[in-house]
Amino acid sequence: MKIRVECASLADLKCDLLVVDQFEGVKKPGGAAGVADKALKGLISKLMHDGELSGKIGKTTVIHCHGRMKADKVVVVGLGKREKFDLEAVRTAAAAAIKMAREAKAKTVATIIHGAGIGGLDPEEAAKAVVEGSVLGVYQFSGYAKEKEEPDFKIESLILVECDKEKMRSIQQGAQLGLIIAEAENHARDLVNEPSNKMTPTAFAKLAEKIARINKLKFTSLDPKAAGMGSLWAVAKGSDEPPRLIALEYKGNPGSKEKIALVGKGITFDSGGISLKPSAKMAEMKTDMAGAAAVLGTMSLLSDLKPKKNVIAVIPLTENMPSGHATKPGDVVSSLSGLTIEVVNTDAEGRMILADAITYAIEKGATRIIDIATLTGGCITALGDAASGVIGNDQALIDQILAAGNQSGQKMWQLPLYDEYKESLKSEIADIKNTGETGKASPSTGGAFLAKFVGDVPWVHIDIAGTAHLDKERGYLPQGATGVPVRTLIEFLNY
Ligand code: BES
Ligand code: ZN
Ligand code: ZN
Repeated sequence: MKIRVECASLADLKCDLLVVDQFEGVKKPGGAAGVADKALKGLISKLMHDGELSGKIGKTTVIHCHGRMKADKVVVVGLGKREKFDLEAVRTAAAAAIKMAREAKAKTVATIIHGAGIGGLDPEEAAKAVVEGSVLGVYQFSGYAKEKEEPDFKIESLILVECDKEKMRSIQQGAQLGLIIAEAENHARDLVNEPSNKMTPTAFAKLAEKIARINKLKFTSLDPKAAGMGSLWAVAKGSDEPPRLIALEYKGNPGSKEKIALVGKGITFDSGGISLKPSAKMAEMKTDMAGAAAVLGTMSLLSDLKPKKNVIAVIPLTENMPSGHATKPGDVVSSLSGLTIEVVNTDAEGRMILADAITYAIEKGATRIIDIATLTGGCITALGDAASGVIGNDQALIDQILAAGNQSGQKMWQLPLYDEYKESLKSEIADIKNTGETGKASPSTGGAFLAKFVGDVPWVHIDIAGTAHLDKERGYLPQGATGVPVRTLIEFLNY
């Protein structure tokens, strides 16, 4: 879908489908819907009067223009209540409208920039959100099915229309930014939706190398066993797929010693290992590399966005499988940090691979660490698929992540890191156990485990177990992989 910005009057704009909007509870057409065309205004008034246009967020109504306007059809999309209107409402409305346009098989779609006029939003932010909602909203995983009920229909172009010349520059910028960010998030979705027999650790590492080459990022790929990463190797040794630890480095501020590490959990399939998971939802565990995908998606943008920061991505990649070579519950292993770990439960493997990745990031000079992981089922119990869990050792950094999440529409909720959780990881025979008591605060004990390897470095852990994947679509989020939290990370790095 090509995106462009045009300065034009709505009535004169030639397109297959034009999107206008409406707040909930409004009785008369205002804003763009009101000025588009007299006849159309009359029609919209009538529909409003008859209660057919509720203005509820994401509700769409198609109007056939029959030659009254240059556009073939008009879609009125609801923006919800005015008091609740924000950038997230813009994304949701844009996604609903573009999906309706796809259903109507419109090749050329034009849209007003929701919120840039009477909505009172900053035009650049509003344009960015319209493009994000549209590009994220039309996402579909291409998949492997040879027989399809209907061939995929692709919208060719999306035109953002604005008649105020003074706003054009910022709208252009917002639209461009929105496009590259949404495409990166869609790319992360693609990686997560791939089955684990395609997206192996080797395949992921190859792809990352290609992305590094294109973006001129320094790329490192290590054999974890040879590199002394005993904790990562303990997870990997049950699988026939070779593991990898990869790093990509972007230098946006070469004069500075500051370095942000983004560490992403890359379990390409989590069977649970010898502590085998039940078979019911095991197929979902191909998404256990969503943290890694989000980190790679974010890195793929940095040479375009050029934030003045140094960033290193560290991604441990492996399967977690049971076999005659697998780590057994009760085994003790030595991590890269030197700390020994008693593996009580082989299904708590994410923290084991992250431990060595975090130590590696510190060895490479990380001064702040953000790790992203589908870490615990307990996080889904606590927050469902509405919000990611956030835990850390530095409240200022935590607050920055929470704010970035809020701004990008990816909800984040802080969970505690009390000493009790650290206590519950004390082992009789090693420096630390990999799990606490069954069924007790697993997101926080997972965090407490990671905290031990982070030491004093300011650190935030984002548990995306509930948000990385949706059972059914919601707004601009599709069923399957969501790409969370690419937009949050970009927001954090870009400002
Ligand atoms: N990958 C899982 C967490 C998960 C569960 C992600 C469901 C997405 C959906 C993780 O490796 C795991 O198995 N965690 C255990 C930890 C427990 C043994 C302390 C869990 O949550 O049960
Ligand atoms: Zn697991
Ligand atoms: Zn896992």
